[in-house]
Amino acid sequence: MRRKLAAGNWKMNGTRAALSELDVLAKAPIDPAVDILLCPPAPLLSEAAKHVSGSPVVIGAQDCHYEPSGAHTGDISAAMIADAGARAVILGHSERREDHNESSPLVRQKARSAHAEGLLAVICLGESEAQRLAANTLDIIAGQLATSVPDDATGANTVIAYEPIWAIGTGNVPTTEQIDEVHDFIRARLVRRFGGDEGGAIRLLYGGSVKPGNAAEIFATDNVDGALVGGASLKADDFLPIIRALETSV
Ligand code: PGA
Repeated sequence: MRRKLAAGNWKMNGTRAALSELDVLAKAPIDPAVDILLCPPAPLLSEAAKHVSGSPVVIGAQDCHYEPSGAHTGDISAAMIADAGARAVILGHSERREDHNESSPLVRQKARSAHAEGLLAVICLGESEAQRLAANTLDIIAGQLATSVPDDATGANTVIAYEPIWAIGTGNVPTTEQIDEVHDFIRARLVRRFGGDEGGAIRLLYGGSVKPGNAAEIFATDNVDGALVGGASLKADDFLPIIRALETSV
């Protein structure tokens, strides 16, 4: 049985004042069947981890370098993220793939280094609008999945987030049939590659314009184990109803 996961990605938003949102989440009663992950910007990681200490909320980063240390100005390593008290890292988000030219093989290297530090790697995949219109979606997903996910992936160390690029921050959400098709496809590929036990245990999140108003419908979809939420994770008042919808889906 896969545990449900509500993950928030603050992207490049929030200064220390925003950590009060974490205090609200940390105090809220959370169904023990649901995991909560919040990924603030790197400068807030260590402080954020203190704010949620002793609560069910876990902190993650939004990227890491694939090496543990060295001459990489501006980068942070998985070891540093773990040392800050975080337990997870988002990798291969489409904004990193686009803004920083990140390739799937690079994402795979990063995931391996995250695993080596005991971090949960949340690996993002997703097609562009042009790829969707050209009916290439499953080919794109198959390629990204095969090359971004390392061979040491297990249900305990890896989560896959399906995030259609055209749905991120746009308010355009795929139909539940479209989400269902891609998630079933990802599940089948994972089972084929990793076997029924591990391939069946890796959680699949949907991401892209998840809001309090559409979360319940998305969570009712087969093979959706939770969500990766951007804009609606910035305020506890928006994120909590999404968590509640996930709890109801258990
Ligand atoms: P959004 O972002 O919820 O603001 O669409 C999702 C994401 O990019 O992870």
